[in-house]
Amino acid sequence: MENIERHATNLVDVVYGNEALRFDDPSENWLEATKIYRKSMAWDAPGVSGLLRSETLQKIATHASKRFDDLPLIPLPNPLDINVSLDEAINNRRSVESFNGGSVSLEQLSTVLQKSYGLVERPEGPRRPIPSGGALYPLDLFIVINKVDSLEKGIYHFDPYRKGLVKLGEYSEVDFTKIMLQEDAVQDFSFAVVVSASFWRSRFKYGHRSYRFVFIEAGHVMQNMILLSTALNINSRPYGGFVDDELMNMIGGYNGVDDAPIYTLVAGR
Ligand SMILES: Cc1cc2nc3c(=O)[nH]c(=O)nc-3n(C[C@H](O)[C@H](O)[C@H](O)COP(=O)(O)O)c2cc1C
Repeated sequence: MENIERHATNLVDVVYGNEALRFDDPSENWLEATKIYRKSMAWDAPGVSGLLRSETLQKIATHASKRFDDLPLIPLPNPLDINVSLDEAINNRRSVESFNGGSVSLEQLSTVLQKSYGLVERPEGPRRPIPSGGALYPLDLFIVINKVDSLEKGIYHFDPYRKGLVKLGEYSEVDFTKIMLQEDAVQDFSFAVVVSASFWRSRFKYGHRSYRFVFIEAGHVMQNMILLSTALNINSRPYGGFVDDELMNMIGGYNGVDDAPIYTLVAGR
């Protein structure tokens, strides 16, 4: 075929063949369920008016994070100043193929986490560095530590309100590389960030539309983390392909419906 690069749209035929789209296609159902129609807005997102009416709900909605208050908190140092221009960080960003086992400092990890999804105090209330539908912040960051100075290997939760990490448990590096489906590329990493969604935190207000918001917001956090890592001379690669149930078991505490891991950054030297 001539000018084959101009025919990318024909991949539609590869997906569907000559058949009409199968009835009850789950992907189509998902897209359809998350559309906004003018006629059904009022009952598709009843939480919008419910939230306006309830001060209690408004208060609950401003503390948007899983909490592990009964476990010891490891305070994070203040984030470092970034002296690299945005232009430079965007131009230098790329997804790396492997790591060399070198370590990252706690200050650098703190910078990536706090400047990506940490607390930002604003006159209108607590906010984060990324835009979020309704300022509901339905994401949590779980950190898999392999080689970070002064942190034990393990699985941690980032608490943006208390500006610290809580250690939740242990993991096996070999198992983690297998879960990520790229054993050679992931091994010898320094840390990974598992971006996790608590869908209900957005769904109570936005109904099915929230499922778009949550994934879009994971992209905002990921881009922040990648650009900050680049600026700090830390290599990284985002992973959307991993074995879901195995990653859920490794981190623990998910039910896989209301909350689930949705995106992972693997970073290192
Ligand atoms: C949503 C998303 C999911 C991705 N998932 C994977 C993945 O599962 N495994 C992998 O090796 N790379 C993954 N990548 C990285 C891409 O392969 C990479 O971004 C692409 O090859 C372009 O290279 P660059 O990032 O260096 O520009 C993913 C990237 C994105 C944006």
